[in-house]
Amino acid sequence: MSKAKIALITGANKGIGYAIAAGLGTLGHRVGVGARDETRLGEAVEKLRAAGVDAFGVPLDVTSRRSVTEAAELVELEAGGLDVLVNNAGIPGEMGPGWAQDPTSLDLDVVRTVVETNVLGVIQVTNAMLPLLRRSGSPRIVNVSSGVGSLTRQADPGIDIGPVMAAYAPSKTFLNAVTVQYARHFAGTDILINAACPGLVATDFTGFHGSRTPEQGAATAIRLATLPDGGPTGSFFEDDGTIPW
Ligand SMILES: NC(=O)c1ccc[n+]([C@@H]2O[C@H](COP(=O)([O-])OP(=O)(O)OC[C@H]3O[C@@H](n4cnc5c(N)ncnc54)[C@H](OP(=O)(O)O)[C@@H]3O)[C@@H](O)[C@H]2O)c1
Repeated sequence: MSKAKIALITGANKGIGYAIAAGLGTLGHRVGVGARDETRLGEAVEKLRAAGVDAFGVPLDVTSRRSVTEAAELVELEAGGLDVLVNNAGIPGEMGPGWAQDPTSLDLDVVRTVVETNVLGVIQVTNAMLPLLRRSGSPRIVNVSSGVGSLTRQADPGIDIGPVMAAYAPSKTFLNAVTVQYARHFAGTDILINAACPGLVATDFTGFHGSRTPEQGAATAIRLATLPDGGPTGSFFEDDGTIPW
């Protein structure tokens, strides 16, 4: 019998992250449930276990260096390695009227907080988990991004990508750029790293506006987390294929 693959998903206590954890668990992965709040973490692990998933809790605030270091130690102790990292945790940042972030009146602290979580958090978690991932036969990293971070789509007046979001959208553009740099660094290795857009999903994040379910939103990340060896890397995907940068 082959050994179960080990996956860690950040921000997995609810929304798309929880659905990614449930989906990978159903596929037979052993799932590390990353969450920053102890109570929400415990509840998510219990719910996943009740659904038959081999889940373990990983206290993890992606913005805290100490928390990230301790999370890597816990994954090593609990699972002895890591095959899949899904950087899902993300925040929109404070929004103004019409769920917009006006660049001309933007509070810089909003930008800092969003970048801290959506970009620096991803780098911090990825680098802490890399020693474990490098020991895997088929390491996979998925960064949960957003189509609103696509500069091509933002620059095309023919495409409706919603309100102006001067902190959130650039944070995902930044995350995409960082994903490409990792892919360039990993070229010629077994590590595949890609960005995924879940589409507009009804979660806390969107105030439950959005036509897609968390399970639908999780599908692309799950596909990228389970790519075969030699699969694509350094690309940006949604349900229908690739998204232009
Ligand atoms: N929903 C959409 O339509 C949509 C569209 C495109 C992209 N996305 C992306 O999809 C990802 C998941 O979003 P979602 O819709 O599932 O949102 P959500 O329901 O609000 O879940 C976000 C998750 O991230 C966690 N999180 C936030 N800051 C964190 C931190 N510093 N450390 C650890 N965990 C943290 C939250 O934990 P708490 O429960 O403790 O707050 C929660 O578990 C995000 O990266 C988002 O940008 C969403």
